[in-house]
Amino acid sequence: MKTRITELFGIEHPIIQGGMHYVGFAELAAAVSNAGGLGIITALTQPSAEALAEEIAKCREMTDKPFGVNLTFLPVVNSPDYPGMVKAIIEGGVKAVETAGNNPVQVLPALHEAGIKVIHKCTSVRHALKAQSIGCDAVSVDGFECGGHPGEDDIPNMILLPRAADELDIPFVSSGGQADGRSLVASLAMGAEGMNMGTRFIATKEAPVHQNVKDAIVAASELDTRLVMRPLRNTERVLNNPAVERVLEIEKEKGADLQFTDIIEQVAGVYPKIMKEGDMDIGAWSCGMVAGLINDIPTCQELIDRIMAEAEAIVRERLEGFLAA
Ligand SMILES: Cc1cc2nc3c(=O)[nH]c(=O)nc-3n(C[C@H](O)[C@H](O)[C@H](O)COP(=O)(O)O)c2cc1C
Repeated sequence: MKTRITELFGIEHPIIQGGMHYVGFAELAAAVSNAGGLGIITALTQPSAEALAEEIAKCREMTDKPFGVNLTFLPVVNSPDYPGMVKAIIEGGVKAVETAGNNPVQVLPALHEAGIKVIHKCTSVRHALKAQSIGCDAVSVDGFECGGHPGEDDIPNMILLPRAADELDIPFVSSGGQADGRSLVASLAMGAEGMNMGTRFIATKEAPVHQNVKDAIVAASELDTRLVMRPLRNTERVLNNPAVERVLEIEKEKGADLQFTDIIEQVAGVYPKIMKEGDMDIGAWSCGMVAGLINDIPTCQELIDRIMAEAEAIVRERLEGFLAA
């Protein structure tokens, strides 16, 4: 399939694996890229810029296809070493960067000068337009369904994608709730030129996370996610568990007085224990409503091949069939 997204990133299929904390290591990024999509390493999971450079080198050993790096800009006091990470990305010969969180304007000149294409993740049309205006090459439009941070507007992709299509000139991918060939065709129908998946890629053979994480996603239904940290305007969609129920209780008790420190035990520093050790109930971890559509743990190649075959069959048989009738 050829779209502006496949052309921009030099990939075979318009499928991107979004950056994911403690999931987006070289193993997953390389597997997605080898299967013809765009795999993405998550920079902030690495302890330093040097470690990121090593992860990029490792990924390059595992694939000769294009892959990217996610740079998430967090509103934190002790800022990570972003200049060092940008340097590692450029020197590592990476050709795609997914930015997320705050406005990426400061890193754009250096990335563009190095010939790197930048796709910025946005949860609203206004943020997507802003990204376009500062020179991003593409955007990833994350609907309310998404795992992780859906923003505060609560607009699902059925509305958000056509709205983005109406306003944007640069190409965009759908993100949030995407799982299969139906998702891809629907995204294309609504104006996107590809799709980004997070949760679906965790439940794959190559995702370097504990088996318990994959099993939890397969076991979950679309009813099993919750929104936490809404009172802090840092909403995150997570899989429900006892720690999440505790966070929601605390949020209810504290109301408008809630401070981050009140829930720090359940939300800070829990990813290594969950993703590596499989200690599933220790804290809150991002997961999309799309868990309800995930019923198996294929390889990335099997998943992407299946999505593309299913998408083609939907277009050529189901949709064409309606027109012929
Ligand atoms: C476990 C997990 C961790 C994530 N970590 C990040 C992150 O560090 N940075 C980021 O930009 N997005 C992160 N995301 C969001 C994904 O890149 C993607 O936008 C989102 O998962 C799409 O929704 P879906 O899960 O319904 O496919 C994370 C998502 C999950 C499920």
